[in-house]
Amino acid sequence: MKFLIISGNPKKDGLCHGAEEELIRGFAEGGADCEVLTLEKLDRCHVCGDGWGICREQHRCAFGNDGFSAAQEKVKAADAYCFITPVYWAEMAEALKNFFDRLRRCEASRQFGGGGDPSALAGKQVLLVASPGGSGNGLLSCLEQMDRFCRHTGAVIFDYIGINRWNNDYKKEALRAAARALAQGRKAGETL
Ligand SMILES: Cc1cc2nc3c(=O)[nH]c(=O)nc-3n(C[C@H](O)[C@H](O)[C@H](O)COP(=O)(O)O)c2cc1C
Repeated sequence: MKFLIISGNPKKDGLCHGAEEELIRGFAEGGADCEVLTLEKLDRCHVCGDGWGICREQHRCAFGNDGFSAAQEKVKAADAYCFITPVYWAEMAEALKNFFDRLRRCEASRQFGGGGDPSALAGKQVLLVASPGGSGNGLLSCLEQMDRFCRHTGAVIFDYIGINRWNNDYKKEALRAAARALAQGRKAGETL
């Protein structure tokens, strides 16, 4: 199993970075390969034409040579994911939001009209993690935004975890355990 941690975190220290480290430990303990995909260098969607560009028919981005196409390939190659972001303005961090705007167009559009190839994320499990490191507000709206991306692209949500300044001791344990369980093959919907 190949796991991809897709991170909106711009920092190399702090709460969100600490959460990422626990995920990496958990995947390793479960015996799975894991890579972290960071997105700071990617541009936002150019909203080509009258709302759609080649993303609708060709399922790739016309501006993909900024690193987007390579990131899209990594998403295709992975078997499961963790999406992790600091909470900014009660939403995902801009880097993740921009990437998901572009990826959703390319992948969700595969199934327009029915009968097309499934999206690269279809049927694959995702652990959603958000860290509201300031007031602690905005966790639910941020997770909801990630949830909606999963629904559009057919990804299967394994769990939702929020981590903040006053719960990170026990939430780090939960993150590590969730990553380990995923790596060991646990499936959403299975009763323990
Ligand atoms: C532009 C911006 C907006 C933010 N908005 C929120 C917010 O809505 N709620 C919150 O709890 N924290 C907010 N924060 C704080 C971040 O969530 C916090 O920096 C993040 O959780 C990561 O913590 P870390 O910087 O220690 O990794 C915001 C930070 C920035 C830079």
